[in-house]
Amino acid sequence: MSDAIDLAALPHDFRWGTATSAYQIEGAVAEDGRSPSIWDTFSHTPGKTDNDDHGDTACDHYHRWREDVALMSRLGLDAYRLSIAWPRVMPEGDGLVNPKGLDFYDELIDGLLAAGITPSVTLYHWDLPQALQDRGGWPERETAEHFAAYASVVAERLGDRVSHWTTLNEPSCSAWIGHLEGKMAPGLTDLTAAVRASYHLLLGHGLAAQAIRAATSGAEVGIVNNLSTVFPASDSPEDEAAARRHDGHVNRWWLDPVHGRGFPADMREVYGVDLPERPGDLDIIAAPLDWLGLNYYFPATVADDPAGPVPHARSVRRPDVPRTGMDWEIEASGIETLLLRLTHEYGARKLYVTENGSAFPDTVGPDGTVDDPERQDYLVGHLAACASAARKGAPLAGYFAWSLLDNFEWAYGYAKRFGLVHVDYATQARTIKGSGHRYADIVRAHGELGRGAA
Ligand code: IFM
Repeated sequence: MSDAIDLAALPHDFRWGTATSAYQIEGAVAEDGRSPSIWDTFSHTPGKTDNDDHGDTACDHYHRWREDVALMSRLGLDAYRLSIAWPRVMPEGDGLVNPKGLDFYDELIDGLLAAGITPSVTLYHWDLPQALQDRGGWPERETAEHFAAYASVVAERLGDRVSHWTTLNEPSCSAWIGHLEGKMAPGLTDLTAAVRASYHLLLGHGLAAQAIRAATSGAEVGIVNNLSTVFPASDSPEDEAAARRHDGHVNRWWLDPVHGRGFPADMREVYGVDLPERPGDLDIIAAPLDWLGLNYYFPATVADDPAGPVPHARSVRRPDVPRTGMDWEIEASGIETLLLRLTHEYGARKLYVTENGSAFPDTVGPDGTVDDPERQDYLVGHLAACASAARKGAPLAGYFAWSLLDNFEWAYGYAKRFGLVHVDYATQARTIKGSGHRYADIVRAHGELGRGAA
Protein backbone atom coordinates (compact mmCIF):
# COMPACT_ATOMS: atom_id res chain seq x y z
CA MET A 1 0.00 0.00 0.00
CA SER A 2 3.02 2.33 0.43
CA ASP A 3 3.06 2.29 -3.38
CA ALA A 4 0.03 4.54 -3.09
CA ILE A 5 2.38 7.35 -2.02
CA ASP A 6 4.04 9.32 -4.80
CA LEU A 7 7.30 9.54 -2.85
CA ALA A 8 9.13 11.05 -5.81
CA ALA A 9 6.99 14.17 -5.37
CA LEU A 10 8.67 14.84 -2.01
CA PRO A 11 12.01 16.65 -2.00
CA HIS A 12 15.20 14.64 -1.33
CA ASP A 13 15.84 16.57 1.88
CA PHE A 14 12.29 16.01 3.13
CA ARG A 15 12.18 15.81 6.94
CA TRP A 16 10.64 12.67 8.39
CA GLY A 17 9.79 12.93 12.04
CA THR A 18 7.41 12.38 14.90
CA ALA A 19 5.98 14.93 17.30
CA THR A 20 5.27 14.98 21.03
CA SER A 21 4.66 17.62 23.68
CA ALA A 22 6.13 18.12 27.12
CA TYR A 23 3.13 17.64 29.40
CA GLN A 24 1.89 14.66 27.41
CA ILE A 25 5.05 12.57 27.82
CA GLU A 26 7.55 13.95 30.34
CA GLY A 27 6.07 13.22 33.76
CA ALA A 28 8.43 14.32 36.58
CA VAL A 29 6.11 17.22 37.25
CA ALA A 30 7.64 18.12 40.60
CA GLU A 31 11.26 17.34 39.81
CA ASP A 32 14.27 19.58 39.49
CA GLY A 33 12.42 22.79 40.18
CA ARG A 34 9.48 22.48 37.77
CA SER A 35 6.40 24.32 39.02
CA PRO A 36 2.75 23.44 38.25
CA SER A 37 1.25 24.42 34.92
CA ILE A 38 -2.40 25.05 34.19
CA TRP A 39 -2.61 21.44 33.02
CA ASP A 40 -1.45 20.11 36.40
CA THR A 41 -4.20 22.16 38.02
CA PHE A 42 -6.85 21.20 35.48
CA SER A 43 -6.07 17.48 35.40
CA HIS A 44 -6.02 17.32 39.20
CA THR A 45 -9.46 18.92 39.38
CA PRO A 46 -11.89 16.00 39.76
CA GLY A 47 -14.03 15.32 36.72
CA LYS A 48 -11.99 17.35 34.22
CA THR A 49 -10.28 14.41 32.50
CA ASP A 50 -11.43 10.88 31.71
CA ASN A 51 -10.70 8.65 34.66
CA ASP A 52 -9.22 11.74 36.37
CA ASP A 53 -5.98 10.96 34.53
CA HIS A 54 -3.11 13.44 34.78
CA GLY A 55 0.42 13.89 33.50
CA ASP A 56 2.30 13.23 36.76
CA THR A 57 4.17 10.29 35.27
CA ALA A 58 2.88 10.10 31.68
CA CYS A 59 5.54 8.24 29.62
CA ASP A 60 8.27 9.09 32.11
CA HIS A 61 10.17 10.56 29.17
CA TYR A 62 12.01 12.89 31.55
CA HIS A 63 13.94 9.83 32.74
CA ARG A 64 13.65 7.63 29.64
CA TRP A 65 14.44 10.10 26.88
CA ARG A 66 17.56 8.18 25.82
CA GLU A 67 15.43 5.10 25.14
CA ASP A 68 12.97 7.27 23.21
CA VAL A 69 15.71 8.80 21.06
CA ALA A 70 16.95 5.27 20.36
CA LEU A 71 13.42 4.36 19.21
CA MET A 72 13.47 7.25 16.73
CA SER A 73 16.80 5.97 15.42
CA ARG A 74 15.37 2.47 15.03
CA LEU A 75 12.57 3.96 12.96
CA GLY A 76 15.12 5.73 10.76
CA LEU A 77 13.72 9.20 11.49
CA ASP A 78 15.77 12.35 10.97
CA ALA A 79 13.62 14.93 12.79
CA TYR A 80 11.78 15.26 16.09
CA ARG A 81 9.29 17.90 17.15
CA LEU A 82 9.29 18.41 20.91
CA SER A 83 7.99 21.12 23.18
CA ILE A 84 9.64 22.86 26.11
CA ALA A 85 7.77 23.06 29.42
CA TRP A 86 7.72 26.75 30.33
CA PRO A 87 7.24 25.90 34.05
CA ARG A 88 10.45 23.86 34.01
CA VAL A 89 12.46 26.75 32.63
CA MET A 90 10.79 29.67 34.43
CA PRO A 91 8.79 28.25 37.31
CA GLU A 92 7.07 31.56 38.07
CA GLY A 93 6.49 32.27 34.38
CA ASP A 94 8.75 35.29 34.53
CA GLY A 95 11.87 36.32 36.37
CA LEU A 96 14.09 33.58 37.75
CA VAL A 97 15.36 30.93 35.36
CA ASN A 98 15.64 27.35 36.61
CA PRO A 99 19.02 26.05 35.35
CA LYS A 100 18.05 22.40 35.87
CA GLY A 101 15.05 22.84 33.61
CA LEU A 102 17.23 24.18 30.82
CA ASP A 103 19.82 21.45 31.45
CA PHE A 104 17.24 18.77 30.69
CA TYR A 105 16.50 20.18 27.24
CA ASP A 106 20.16 20.91 26.62
CA GLU A 107 21.03 17.24 27.12
CA LEU A 108 18.05 16.06 25.09
CA ILE A 109 19.06 18.28 22.16
CA ASP A 110 22.62 16.96 22.31
CA GLY A 111 21.28 13.41 22.42
CA LEU A 112 19.13 14.00 19.36
CA LEU A 113 21.93 15.61 17.39
CA ALA A 114 24.30 12.78 18.30
CA ALA A 115 21.72 10.39 16.83
CA GLY A 116 21.48 12.44 13.62
CA ILE A 117 17.99 13.70 14.46
CA THR A 118 17.21 17.38 13.87
CA PRO A 119 15.24 18.91 16.72
CA SER A 120 12.27 21.15 16.02
CA VAL A 121 11.43 23.03 19.20
CA THR A 122 7.98 24.31 20.16
CA LEU A 123 7.94 26.90 22.91
CA TYR A 124 4.30 26.66 23.93
CA HIS A 125 2.19 23.53 23.78
CA TRP A 126 -0.48 24.58 26.30
CA ASP A 127 1.38 24.28 29.63
CA LEU A 128 1.24 27.84 30.93
CA PRO A 129 2.86 28.23 34.36
CA GLN A 130 0.03 28.31 36.89
CA ALA A 131 1.66 31.36 38.49
CA LEU A 132 0.87 33.35 35.33
CA GLN A 133 -2.68 32.00 35.21
CA ASP A 134 -3.07 33.27 38.75
CA ARG A 135 -2.21 36.72 37.40
CA GLY A 136 -4.81 36.48 34.64
CA GLY A 137 -3.19 34.19 32.03
CA TRP A 138 -3.55 34.74 28.29
CA PRO A 139 -6.44 37.20 28.54
CA GLU A 140 -3.82 39.61 29.95
CA ARG A 141 -1.22 41.36 27.81
CA GLU A 142 1.61 40.75 30.28
CA THR A 143 1.45 37.00 29.51
CA ALA A 144 2.44 37.72 25.89
CA GLU A 145 5.35 39.81 27.12
CA HIS A 146 6.49 37.11 29.58
CA PHE A 147 6.25 34.55 26.79
CA ALA A 148 8.71 36.57 24.72
CA ALA A 149 11.12 36.80 27.66
CA TYR A 150 10.91 33.03 28.17
CA ALA A 151 11.44 32.47 24.40
CA SER A 152 14.55 34.59 24.59
CA VAL A 153 15.98 32.55 27.49
CA VAL A 154 15.39 29.25 25.69
CA ALA A 155 16.70 30.50 22.35
CA GLU A 156 19.84 31.87 23.98
CA ARG A 157 20.57 28.52 25.58
CA LEU A 158 19.64 26.18 22.71
CA GLY A 159 19.97 28.43 19.66
CA ASP A 160 23.53 27.34 18.92
CA ARG A 161 22.17 23.87 18.10
CA VAL A 162 18.48 24.40 17.31
CA SER A 163 17.47 26.31 14.23
CA HIS A 164 13.86 25.18 13.79
CA TRP A 165 11.50 27.01 16.16
CA THR A 166 7.74 27.02 16.68
CA THR A 167 6.28 29.75 18.83
CA LEU A 168 2.80 28.33 19.52
CA ASN A 169 1.16 25.00 18.98
CA GLU A 170 -2.53 25.19 18.05
CA PRO A 171 -3.37 28.52 19.68
CA SER A 172 -7.02 28.00 18.71
CA CYS A 173 -7.22 25.13 21.22
CA SER A 174 -5.73 27.30 23.95
CA ALA A 175 -8.17 30.12 23.25
CA TRP A 176 -11.35 28.40 22.16
CA ILE A 177 -11.27 25.03 23.95
CA GLY A 178 -9.50 26.40 27.03
CA HIS A 179 -11.33 29.69 27.51
CA LEU A 180 -14.66 29.31 25.67
CA GLU A 181 -15.63 25.64 25.79
CA GLY A 182 -13.95 24.94 29.13
CA LYS A 183 -12.84 21.47 28.06
CA MET A 184 -9.14 22.17 28.36
CA ALA A 185 -7.02 24.15 30.81
CA PRO A 186 -7.66 26.68 32.21
CA GLY A 187 -11.26 25.53 31.85
CA LEU A 188 -13.05 28.86 31.35
CA THR A 189 -16.32 29.41 29.49
CA ASP A 190 -16.06 33.13 28.86
CA LEU A 191 -16.20 34.60 25.35
CA THR A 192 -14.49 37.85 26.31
CA ALA A 193 -11.63 35.98 28.00
CA ALA A 194 -11.36 33.66 24.98
CA VAL A 195 -11.15 36.48 22.42
CA ARG A 196 -8.66 38.40 24.54
CA ALA A 197 -6.62 35.19 24.95
CA SER A 198 -6.64 34.65 21.17
CA TYR A 199 -5.31 38.17 20.65
CA HIS A 200 -2.55 37.87 23.26
CA LEU A 201 -1.53 34.42 22.04
CA LEU A 202 -0.91 35.86 18.57
CA LEU A 203 0.78 38.92 20.02
CA GLY A 204 2.95 36.56 22.09
CA HIS A 205 3.76 34.65 18.91
CA GLY A 206 4.96 37.83 17.19
CA LEU A 207 6.98 38.99 20.21
CA ALA A 208 8.53 35.55 20.65
CA ALA A 209 9.46 35.40 16.95
CA GLN A 210 11.34 38.69 17.43
CA ALA A 211 12.99 37.37 20.60
CA ILE A 212 14.16 34.14 18.94
CA ARG A 213 15.62 36.05 16.01
CA ALA A 214 17.37 38.50 18.31
CA ALA A 215 18.90 35.67 20.37
CA THR A 216 20.15 33.42 17.58
CA SER A 217 21.30 33.62 14.01
CA GLY A 218 19.83 31.52 11.24
CA ALA A 219 16.65 30.68 13.14
CA GLU A 220 13.73 29.37 11.07
CA VAL A 221 10.62 30.49 12.90
CA GLY A 222 7.08 29.30 12.31
CA ILE A 223 3.70 28.84 13.96
CA VAL A 224 1.62 25.66 14.09
CA ASN A 225 -2.13 25.73 13.55
CA ASN A 226 -4.65 22.93 13.60
CA LEU A 227 -6.87 23.55 10.60
CA SER A 228 -9.93 21.85 9.17
CA THR A 229 -11.60 21.73 5.83
CA VAL A 230 -15.14 23.03 6.38
CA PHE A 231 -18.28 22.06 4.46
CA PRO A 232 -21.87 23.27 4.80
CA ALA A 233 -24.32 20.54 5.78
CA SER A 234 -26.63 21.63 2.93
CA ASP A 235 -26.65 24.21 0.16
CA SER A 236 -29.01 26.49 2.10
CA PRO A 237 -27.69 30.06 2.48
CA GLU A 238 -27.89 29.64 6.28
CA ASP A 239 -25.66 26.56 6.31
CA GLU A 240 -23.28 28.16 3.84
CA ALA A 241 -23.00 31.20 6.13
CA ALA A 242 -22.45 28.86 9.10
CA ALA A 243 -19.62 27.14 7.23
CA ARG A 244 -18.06 30.52 6.56
CA ARG A 245 -18.28 31.39 10.27
CA HIS A 246 -16.83 28.05 11.32
CA ASP A 247 -14.00 28.54 8.83
CA GLY A 248 -13.45 31.98 10.32
CA HIS A 249 -13.39 30.57 13.85
CA VAL A 250 -11.01 27.64 13.33
CA ASN A 251 -8.97 28.76 10.31
CA ARG A 252 -9.05 32.43 9.23
CA TRP A 253 -8.90 33.98 12.73
CA TRP A 254 -5.52 32.29 13.14
CA LEU A 255 -4.12 32.64 9.64
CA ASP A 256 -5.17 36.13 8.54
CA PRO A 257 -3.45 38.19 11.28
CA VAL A 258 -0.07 36.45 10.85
CA HIS A 259 -0.32 37.12 7.12
CA GLY A 260 -0.81 40.84 7.53
CA ARG A 261 -4.55 40.81 6.90
CA GLY A 262 -5.62 41.73 10.41
CA PHE A 263 -8.34 39.93 12.33
CA PRO A 264 -11.23 38.97 10.02
CA ALA A 265 -13.92 41.66 10.15
CA ASP A 266 -16.80 39.19 9.86
CA MET A 267 -15.56 37.27 12.90
CA ARG A 268 -15.02 40.41 14.95
CA GLU A 269 -18.70 41.04 14.38
CA VAL A 270 -19.65 37.47 15.32
CA TYR A 271 -17.66 37.67 18.58
CA GLY A 272 -18.74 41.23 19.39
CA VAL A 273 -15.81 41.62 21.77
CA ASP A 274 -13.42 44.58 21.66
CA LEU A 275 -9.89 43.47 20.90
CA PRO A 276 -7.24 44.79 23.30
CA GLU A 277 -5.47 46.42 20.36
CA ARG A 278 -2.56 48.83 20.61
CA PRO A 279 -0.88 50.61 17.73
CA GLY A 280 1.87 48.49 16.20
CA ASP A 281 0.51 45.15 17.47
CA LEU A 282 -0.66 43.99 14.05
CA ASP A 283 2.81 44.53 12.60
CA ILE A 284 4.34 42.46 15.41
CA ILE A 285 1.83 39.67 14.83
CA ALA A 286 2.48 39.74 11.08
CA ALA A 287 6.27 39.53 11.18
CA PRO A 288 7.21 37.38 8.15
CA LEU A 289 7.60 33.70 8.99
CA ASP A 290 10.04 31.17 7.57
CA TRP A 291 7.47 28.39 7.44
CA LEU A 292 3.95 27.42 8.44
CA GLY A 293 2.96 24.27 10.31
CA LEU A 294 -0.25 22.38 9.61
CA ASN A 295 -1.77 19.97 12.11
CA TYR A 296 -4.52 18.08 10.38
CA TYR A 297 -6.86 15.49 11.84
CA PHE A 298 -10.41 15.76 10.46
CA PRO A 299 -12.83 17.76 8.31
CA ALA A 300 -15.89 19.59 9.62
CA THR A 301 -19.44 19.60 8.27
CA VAL A 302 -21.56 22.26 9.90
CA ALA A 303 -25.14 23.57 9.96
CA ASP A 304 -26.53 26.92 11.06
CA ASP A 305 -27.23 27.02 14.79
CA PRO A 306 -28.45 30.52 15.68
CA ALA A 307 -29.16 29.65 19.33
CA GLY A 308 -25.95 27.68 19.79
CA PRO A 309 -22.62 28.95 21.10
CA VAL A 310 -20.28 31.12 19.01
CA PRO A 311 -19.77 30.77 16.09
CA HIS A 312 -23.38 29.48 15.83
CA ALA A 313 -22.38 26.55 13.63
CA ARG A 314 -23.27 23.04 14.78
CA SER A 315 -21.15 20.07 13.72
CA VAL A 316 -23.15 17.52 11.79
CA ARG A 317 -22.32 13.83 11.93
CA ARG A 318 -22.03 12.38 8.43
CA PRO A 319 -23.29 8.79 8.32
CA ASP A 320 -21.17 5.99 6.90
CA VAL A 321 -17.90 7.87 7.17
CA PRO A 322 -14.96 5.96 8.68
CA ARG A 323 -13.83 7.29 12.05
CA THR A 324 -10.91 6.98 14.41
CA GLY A 325 -11.12 6.04 18.07
CA MET A 326 -11.63 9.76 18.81
CA ASP A 327 -14.81 9.55 16.73
CA TRP A 328 -13.11 11.91 14.26
CA GLU A 329 -13.97 11.46 10.59
CA ILE A 330 -11.21 10.08 8.41
CA GLU A 331 -10.86 12.19 5.26
CA ALA A 332 -7.33 12.16 3.90
CA SER A 333 -8.09 14.56 1.06
CA GLY A 334 -8.49 17.33 3.67
CA ILE A 335 -4.75 17.49 4.26
CA GLU A 336 -4.12 18.05 0.55
CA THR A 337 -6.81 20.72 0.34
CA LEU A 338 -5.35 22.59 3.30
CA LEU A 339 -1.74 22.38 2.08
CA LEU A 340 -2.87 23.82 -1.25
CA ARG A 341 -4.96 26.49 0.48
CA LEU A 342 -1.94 27.60 2.53
CA THR A 343 0.10 27.67 -0.67
CA HIS A 344 -2.31 29.58 -2.88
CA GLU A 345 -4.44 31.66 -0.53
CA TYR A 346 -1.73 32.50 2.01
CA GLY A 347 1.37 32.33 -0.20
CA ALA A 348 3.24 29.90 2.08
CA ARG A 349 6.86 29.53 1.03
CA LYS A 350 7.60 26.50 3.17
CA LEU A 351 5.19 24.10 4.83
CA TYR A 352 5.46 21.30 7.33
CA VAL A 353 2.81 18.88 8.41
CA THR A 354 3.65 19.25 12.07
CA GLU A 355 1.05 16.76 13.30
CA ASN A 356 -1.16 14.13 11.75
CA GLY A 357 -2.25 10.84 13.23
CA SER A 358 -5.02 8.70 14.63
CA ALA A 359 -6.07 7.05 17.87
CA PHE A 360 -7.21 3.45 17.98
CA PRO A 361 -7.54 1.08 20.95
CA ASP A 362 -4.32 -0.89 20.47
CA THR A 363 -3.23 -3.87 22.51
CA VAL A 364 -0.06 -5.89 22.63
CA GLY A 365 -0.81 -9.34 21.20
CA PRO A 366 0.30 -12.66 22.68
CA ASP A 367 3.28 -12.64 20.32
CA GLY A 368 4.39 -9.26 21.70
CA THR A 369 3.47 -7.26 18.59
CA VAL A 370 0.92 -4.49 18.14
CA ASP A 371 -1.09 -4.89 14.98
CA ASP A 372 -2.80 -1.62 14.01
CA PRO A 373 -3.99 -1.89 10.41
CA GLU A 374 -6.39 1.06 10.73
CA ARG A 375 -3.59 3.42 11.80
CA GLN A 376 -1.44 2.13 8.96
CA ASP A 377 -4.20 2.89 6.47
CA TYR A 378 -4.66 6.34 7.97
CA LEU A 379 -0.92 7.03 7.75
CA VAL A 380 -0.51 5.83 4.19
CA GLY A 381 -3.69 7.60 3.03
CA HIS A 382 -2.63 10.93 4.52
CA LEU A 383 0.94 10.64 3.26
CA ALA A 384 -0.42 9.93 -0.21
CA ALA A 385 -2.50 13.11 0.04
CA CYS A 386 0.56 15.08 1.21
CA ALA A 387 2.59 13.82 -1.73
CA SER A 388 -0.25 14.72 -4.06
CA ALA A 389 -0.25 18.28 -2.67
CA ALA A 390 3.51 18.46 -3.19
CA ARG A 391 3.10 17.22 -6.75
CA LYS A 392 0.61 20.08 -7.31
CA GLY A 393 3.05 22.66 -6.02
CA ALA A 394 2.71 22.83 -2.21
CA PRO A 395 6.20 23.58 -0.81
CA LEU A 396 6.03 20.73 1.68
CA ALA A 397 9.34 20.21 3.47
CA GLY A 398 8.52 17.61 6.12
CA TYR A 399 6.00 15.45 7.95
CA PHE A 400 5.81 14.78 11.68
CA ALA A 401 3.57 11.89 12.66
CA TRP A 402 1.54 12.39 15.83
CA SER A 403 2.80 10.81 17.89
CA LEU A 404 6.02 8.99 18.66
CA LEU A 405 4.48 7.45 21.79
CA ASP A 406 1.05 6.77 23.19
CA ASN A 407 0.65 9.57 25.70
CA PHE A 408 -1.62 11.72 27.88
CA GLU A 409 -4.34 12.81 25.47
CA TRP A 410 -5.45 15.84 27.52
CA ALA A 411 -9.08 15.61 28.65
CA TYR A 412 -9.24 12.05 27.25
CA GLY A 413 -6.45 10.90 29.56
CA TYR A 414 -4.62 7.72 28.60
CA ALA A 415 -7.58 5.98 26.98
CA LYS A 416 -6.74 7.29 23.49
CA ARG A 417 -3.57 5.94 21.92
CA PHE A 418 -2.02 7.97 19.08
CA GLY A 419 1.51 6.51 19.19
CA LEU A 420 3.51 4.73 16.54
CA VAL A 421 4.99 3.15 19.64
CA HIS A 422 2.78 1.51 22.25
CA VAL A 423 3.38 2.40 25.89
CA ASP A 424 2.40 0.06 28.70
CA TYR A 425 1.80 2.65 31.42
CA ALA A 426 2.20 0.10 34.25
CA THR A 427 5.71 -0.93 33.19
CA GLN A 428 6.64 1.90 30.78
CA ALA A 429 7.57 -0.79 28.24
CA ARG A 430 7.68 0.57 24.69
CA THR A 431 6.67 -1.59 21.69
CA ILE A 432 6.91 -0.36 18.12
CA LYS A 433 3.48 -0.86 16.52
CA GLY A 434 2.87 -2.13 13.00
CA SER A 435 2.32 1.51 11.97
CA GLY A 436 5.77 2.42 13.32
CA HIS A 437 7.34 -0.29 11.17
CA ARG A 438 5.26 0.84 8.20
CA TYR A 439 6.39 4.44 8.68
CA ALA A 440 10.02 3.27 8.85
CA ASP A 441 9.54 1.38 5.54
CA ILE A 442 8.14 4.50 3.87
CA VAL A 443 10.99 6.67 5.15
CA ARG A 444 13.53 4.11 3.93
CA ALA A 445 11.85 3.87 0.51
CA HIS A 446 11.98 7.64 0.14
CA GLY A 447 15.68 7.66 1.09
CA GLU A 448 16.41 4.98 -1.49
CA LEU A 449 14.79 7.11 -4.20
CA GLY A 450 17.21 9.90 -3.31
CA ARG A 451 20.20 7.58 -3.40
CA GLY A 452 19.03 6.23 -6.76
CA ALA A 453 18.95 9.75 -8.17
CA ALA A 454 22.43 10.63 -6.82
O1 IFM B 1 -2.58 15.25 21.40
C1 IFM B 1 -2.93 16.37 20.63
C2 IFM B 1 -1.79 17.35 20.56
O2 IFM B 1 -1.36 17.75 21.81
C3 IFM B 1 -2.22 18.58 19.81
N1 IFM B 1 -2.79 18.23 18.52
C4 IFM B 1 -3.79 17.19 18.50
C5 IFM B 1 -3.29 15.97 19.22
C6 IFM B 1 -4.37 14.86 19.18
O3 IFM B 1 -5.53 15.30 19.79
